[in-house]
Amino acid sequence: MRIAVFGANGPTGRHLTDQALAAGHDVVAVTRRPGSLPSGRPGLTVAVADATDPAAVADAVAGTDAVLSALGTRFSKETITTYSASATAITGAMARHGVTRLLAISSSIADPDWRPTGAHFFNHVLDPLVNRRLGRTLHEDMRRMEDVIRRTDLDWTLVRPSGLFEHPGVTDYRTAGTSADGVFTARSDLAASMLRELEERRYVRMAMGVITTAVKPNIAKLIWQEGVKKK
Ligand SMILES: NC(=O)c1ccc[n+]([C@@H]2O[C@H](COP(=O)([O-])OP(=O)(O)OC[C@H]3O[C@@H](n4cnc5c(N)ncnc54)[C@H](OP(=O)(O)O)[C@@H]3O)[C@@H](O)[C@H]2O)c1
Repeated sequence: MRIAVFGANGPTGRHLTDQALAAGHDVVAVTRRPGSLPSGRPGLTVAVADATDPAAVADAVAGTDAVLSALGTRFSKETITTYSASATAITGAMARHGVTRLLAISSSIADPDWRPTGAHFFNHVLDPLVNRRLGRTLHEDMRRMEDVIRRTDLDWTLVRPSGLFEHPGVTDYRTAGTSADGVFTARSDLAASMLRELEERRYVRMAMGVITTAVKPNIAKLIWQEGVKKK
């Protein structure tokens, strides 16, 4: 397959690109910063586009068989539009070029009923403070993105991981409709679940939760990597 990966330069996008190339797919890696991506890899084409620019997105999507979005942005007090504006540009480009399969990363938070079992500190302290207060405007726009995508005739899957962490390889993970019960998802597993769903089509026109079951992140390392180093 020829796959467009949006957010190819981001941490999940890199796993997606690497795993898709390793599986023998051709990848169009869409990024605003082409210099940050290694060039000259067999099967890899780099397309420069802001994902909210309809014309640039249409050029990147033309001739592909599927689109995977690992786009994201940081928490902000201000209104965020990256998710919904990019979803509008991407779905419009797909309709224009007859590309029908879309997998877009959202979050478990987009499921209002998601409350991982046995995670008291998370459910009562971290989730209200971090996700629902500091991340309020981001998650509002993620929900707008989900609405934009749901309204299309495309074969979409909304991919909902929980707290992301770095792990070098693919481990054991679980997927479930709507959202999955658990607090953490390794980016390597998130990428693997999306490529698998591309082949298996178990969650077409549905949300798919993804949770890593084999490993848990070291919390101090997680705070350092996701909260301090990534800024
Ligand atoms: N962190 C968590 O615990 C968590 C939990 C659930 C879901 N998620 C979601 O999972 C997704 C992936 O997260 P991640 O941490 O792997 O990636 P990320 O750090 O959010 O990076 C996403 C990528 O999106 C690109 N991007 C943003 N706006 C763009 C635009 N207008 N045009 C083109 N590219 C643009 C960025 O490109 P540049 O390099 O050019 O800036 C970046 O490479 C995100 O949507 C995130 O919200 C995260």
